Amino acid sequence: MVGAPTPNERLDMKTRNVRMIGAGALVLALAGVGATAVAQDTTPPPRYDRALEWAPTPVPDRIVLNTTENNATSQAVTWRTSAEVTTAQAQIAKMDAGPYFAYGGQSKYETVTATSNAPIAANLGYTAKFHSVTFKDLDPKTAYLYRVGDGTNWSEWQEFTTASDKAEPFSFIYYGDSQNDVKDHASRVFRRAFRDRPDAKMIIHAGDLVNTANRDHEWGWWNYASGWINGNINTMAVPGNHEYQSGKLTPVWSHQFENPKNGPAAVDAVAPESVYFTDYQGVRFIGLNTNLQNDKVAMQEQADFLDKALAENPGKWSVVTFHHPVFATASSRNHQNVRDFFLPIFEKHQVDLVLQGHDHNYARGGLTNANIGKSGISNGTVYVVSVSGPKMYQLNDGFNWRRNGAEQVARTEYKQLYQLIDVDGNEIRYEARTADGKLFDGFTITKNGKNKKVTNSAEAFGPSKKGPKFESEIEYKYQD
Ligand SMILES: [Fe+2]
Ligand SMILES: [Fe+2]
Repeated sequence: MVGAPTPNERLDMKTRNVRMIGAGALVLALAGVGATAVAQDTTPPPRYDRALEWAPTPVPDRIVLNTTENNATSQAVTWRTSAEVTTAQAQIAKMDAGPYFAYGGQSKYETVTATSNAPIAANLGYTAKFHSVTFKDLDPKTAYLYRVGDGTNWSEWQEFTTASDKAEPFSFIYYGDSQNDVKDHASRVFRRAFRDRPDAKMIIHAGDLVNTANRDHEWGWWNYASGWINGNINTMAVPGNHEYQSGKLTPVWSHQFENPKNGPAAVDAVAPESVYFTDYQGVRFIGLNTNLQNDKVAMQEQADFLDKALAENPGKWSVVTFHHPVFATASSRNHQNVRDFFLPIFEKHQVDLVLQGHDHNYARGGLTNANIGKSGISNGTVYVVSVSGPKMYQLNDGFNWRRNGAEQVARTEYKQLYQLIDVDGNEIRYEARTADGKLFDGFTITKNGKNKKVTNSAEAFGPSKKGPKFESEIEYKYQD
């Protein structure tokens, strides 16, 4: 028996029909002038060789800005070239209104020698090299121009602005898994988020940026989807299970990203640059690696690191990101060790936002107040699961939340989302928007001394005694 066509097959049939209608029109037109019709070839063209499409050259590509331990006075950048490049370097100048900062006798830039990583033999048959530079001794809250290259072959001049050395308003963006078909489907989400917050200072990726850790065209898609945005806004990424292959974090991770090296040494030895913190204008951002959830020693090391990083937070706010959610939203998933090791520390320090991925749908909520005799959701930590790419999982009914003392306030499935977060003095404003740009979920956290309050700003999704609204109007489900 032949099954119903998949969405891809339906699309393919439609394309073929259009081609055949086109061919028919051609036959009629030719018949009108007495010519003979030629048989039309309806075979789809071959896919262009991915090794040609994604091969590196001496001209830099995949340029990504990363945070540092002091974002007010330093800035990290990484990029890729072909392996023959041996003189990688970067240049930096203060922002200028015209081009003469870069020219001849009037030039005002400085040149910094880059660190080059060992070449990576990509699955597509070529060898690539990643390079990194950390610009240092910069002025706080100051705009700069920079470019990367080898002394002859350069990127364009791009821009960044260092952080203020004080708590000041800023915005950041957060994405769940982009993972599959990132060029086709996550690109519009990334670009819409950028249009909505063009001056965001950081973009958080909560793991599963790609689907197959060592497939280079997938990293090509990921970089292509954001284009030059990644060269202008810091990426703060943590690895998901799909950044692992054969039990190992892909070497691309520590080459493509230049994260602060302030995580636990033992974890860094097995998964470099996957656990770290960075401070930005009053917010401490902490990244954890939950791929190590079955290694209790590694989890304890991360828990100790987390506890200390939160205890020593110099800022008012704290945001933690990692891949596998404390409270699962898909199928019968359950991450007991993530909960056991991290949840008590989040609640002890009243972490403001916990931003997660892995479950390919959306839920937001927190612990209930039932244990202190109050109804509703606590004003403590807000837990979010989200997804930016096209792989969609059905929601479970929230049982993993309820069984573990938590409740969802908002949730949805079969939608791609992006999150815009504005930090402003005593307030954090959060919005989750769907891929079509519509507001889906929103809340505000206000903090005065020890008094903290979470208020829903998208009221349709406020706490309900009857439980959250279940949305399931889109039936398309991703198939791989
Ligand atoms: Fe995923
Ligand atoms: Fe995952």
